[in-house]
Amino acid sequence: MRGFFLVMALAGATASAQSQYANKLAPFVASPARVMDRMLELANLKPGETLYDLGCGDGRILIAAVQKYKVKAVGVEISPKLVAKARASIQKAGIQNQARVIQGDVLETDPSGADVVYLYLSTKLNEQLRPRLESQLKPGARVVSHDYPVPGWKPAKVEETGGSQQHEIYLYEMPPNHQ
Ligand SMILES: C[S@@+](CC[C@H](N)C(=O)[O-])C[C@H]1O[C@@H](n2cnc3c(N)ncnc32)[C@H](O)[C@@H]1O
Repeated sequence: MRGFFLVMALAGATASAQSQYANKLAPFVASPARVMDRMLELANLKPGETLYDLGCGDGRILIAAVQKYKVKAVGVEISPKLVAKARASIQKAGIQNQARVIQGDVLETDPSGADVVYLYLSTKLNEQLRPRLESQLKPGARVVSHDYPVPGWKPAKVEETGGSQQHEIYLYEMPPNHQ
């Protein structure tokens, strides 16, 4: 009988872990520095604007954006370990007044405060995110996506990075009358 309860407890733990990560479709792979730099450049960030990194991993994009462009930055990340890592790095960089990390699912996040959205997820997750971005982003907001397009959107620019490992960057702009 004890074995039965142990099996049930393990099954319950697995089910809860699965539901917690049900939407985790993109693993953690950091954008290489040169790709990140170019994406931030293409996003045309201006001081005082707000950048959202949806799936922010260890928070490196948030820190670079705050330090280089004097913007505010918000990260959304589903993995509690990466959230802790990103928060610690923000603290270490001394930019906790400019950057924060929300632990949660990008598909349940309100990105309406963003002037720029940074994505490095997957085409499927971008597709699922699209209605949310369309209904919540302000006119003129920019979306930059590393390697994966947003299906159904026409990019303002597609750029291939040079070098031994090719990366693609997609730049989108929310039209003035989209809301
Ligand atoms: C490819 S990494 C990109 C990390 C960072 N944005 C960068 O470019 O260096 C994707 C990140 O998205 C996170 N992620 C995947 N699915 C998610 C979801 N549904 N909600 C929030 N974060 C998610 C992963 O845990 C991972 O850290």
